[in-house]
Amino acid sequence: MTSTIDPETNLGQLVRVHPEFAPVFESLGIDYCCGGDTPLAQACEENGLEVQPTLERLADAQSTDSTDPTDASLSELVDDIVETHHDYLRSELPSLERTVRKVARVHGESHPELEAIESEFLALETDVMEHIADEEETVFPEIVTLDDETARTDAEADRIRDAIDHLESDHDAAASHLEAIRRLSDDYAVPEDACTSYRNMLDRLQLLEADLHAHIHTENNVLFPDAEAALASA
Ligand SMILES: [Fe+2]
Ligand SMILES: [Fe+2]
Repeated sequence: MTSTIDPETNLGQLVRVHPEFAPVFESLGIDYCCGGDTPLAQACEENGLEVQPTLERLADAQSTDSTDPTDASLSELVDDIVETHHDYLRSELPSLERTVRKVARVHGESHPELEAIESEFLALETDVMEHIADEEETVFPEIVTLDDETARTDAEADRIRDAIDHLESDHDAAASHLEAIRRLSDDYAVPEDACTSYRNMLDRLQLLEADLHAHIHTENNVLFPDAEAALASA
């Protein structure tokens, strides 16, 4: 397929229109969620990648599906985030925590990095659980009300913007924990002596990373800009 992708488009916008680009960026180590404002060409440069081959990889992945995923209302976006990502975190994190603790206990002596992975994971888990509760109980209900296009006072609009800024800072902190886990595990490399639980832990940590990146992308690069647009036009 001939690529019509403009390398000056920012990463968040590219994944917004083409969700199928997310796995390509994941595999190239390009941060499209918290780094969603970065133009593709600049992201390539920062990651030591040539622009043209990257464009070709994206063109190969490009879906022919013509449905526009950008048309969702704020309420639909919020429901999708909660059902797809928050519910996954609520069911996955407690179980993954047990596996991380067990692997660190059993293999910690021969793999000292497991202790640091465990503490990064536990910090991430605590932060993320508080964060999604904050979103669901406080900020998302406010964002959903913006669908009704009722004008907000400046004070109300500023309060919603401040709450969104706070959530974005939380996202940066979560991304830092994920980066630390990736670095400590040497990009999730499976050691020769790894047992089934150890491999399972690495697989699930990597899935957690990909899911959190997609989750943060949908909030930072789709939901929050749409909420801002609704605030600006109300
Ligand atoms: Fe969320
Ligand atoms: Fe969030």
